[in-house]
Amino acid sequence: MKKLMQMLSTLVVFYGAACVVSTAALAEDKKTGTAIEGMSNQEFISRFRTFWYQQATKNGMMKNNYLGILTWQNPMDVWITQEIMYEVKPDVVVEAGTFRGGSAALWATFLAQVNPDGRVITIDIKDKRTERAKNLPIVKERVTFLLGSSSGAEVVKQVKAAVKGKRALFILDSAHTYEHVLSELRAYADMVPVGSYIIVQDTLGTGALRAIIEFLEENDNYETDEDRERLLISNNVGGYLKRIK
Ligand SMILES: C[S@@+](CC[C@H](N)C(=O)[O-])C[C@H]1O[C@@H](n2cnc3c(N)ncnc32)[C@H](O)[C@@H]1O
Repeated sequence: MKKLMQMLSTLVVFYGAACVVSTAALAEDKKTGTAIEGMSNQEFISRFRTFWYQQATKNGMMKNNYLGILTWQNPMDVWITQEIMYEVKPDVVVEAGTFRGGSAALWATFLAQVNPDGRVITIDIKDKRTERAKNLPIVKERVTFLLGSSSGAEVVKQVKAAVKGKRALFILDSAHTYEHVLSELRAYADMVPVGSYIIVQDTLGTGALRAIIEFLEENDNYETDEDRERLLISNNVGGYLKRIK
């Protein structure tokens, strides 16, 4: 419940009410006595994230490249994701939302180091991959592209067959609407082994956080792994969902 309260307070902040103080967070700070300049830590972090998100995501993040391919990833989240990949050592990383193909190449690069047989499945409703992304050796070796909606019956069926009996890790970076993220979470939840993750990307100012809250209410096999937000700068606040049972 405390986690839900914290997520909800973050959601409120990111929907424009930056001055709203989380009562849950204030109660927490009374215990620790760690308020910063009259603000609770949680409020300070929320304001800092709002500022950072507006500045960095809108002005800078969309220009990030990986090996010359436009890649819409936050380097802090990439770091955390490689830590998760090292720990989980997935056989298959399933990415919803390919765009130019840069992130699939990135995940494949990490995966090759932690699982020699590891493969990436990347899904997009349109094929926007660059020739460079398609022809990178690591991509030719390890990446499969699926064309279609990541929540569509046909794609879900193909993913289910591909991950059967394998250790899967999911990264959701397609449409970030409430309806779509919730349908992806429901479709993929049972395909994740205990200890692995569904990483929901871009939760800030989108419908994704509401989808996560609803999903966690109906599925107690998962919890938000807050330690994955320890670097503070993250586009995936509340989105590191670990399967715990
Ligand atoms: C944020 S971009 C992905 C960025 C990419 N992962 C990267 O890091 O560079 C979102 C992508 O999701 C795709 N998309 C939108 N709706 C989708 C759906 N229903 N199923 C699959 N992909 C979808 C879009 O075409 C777009 O290329």
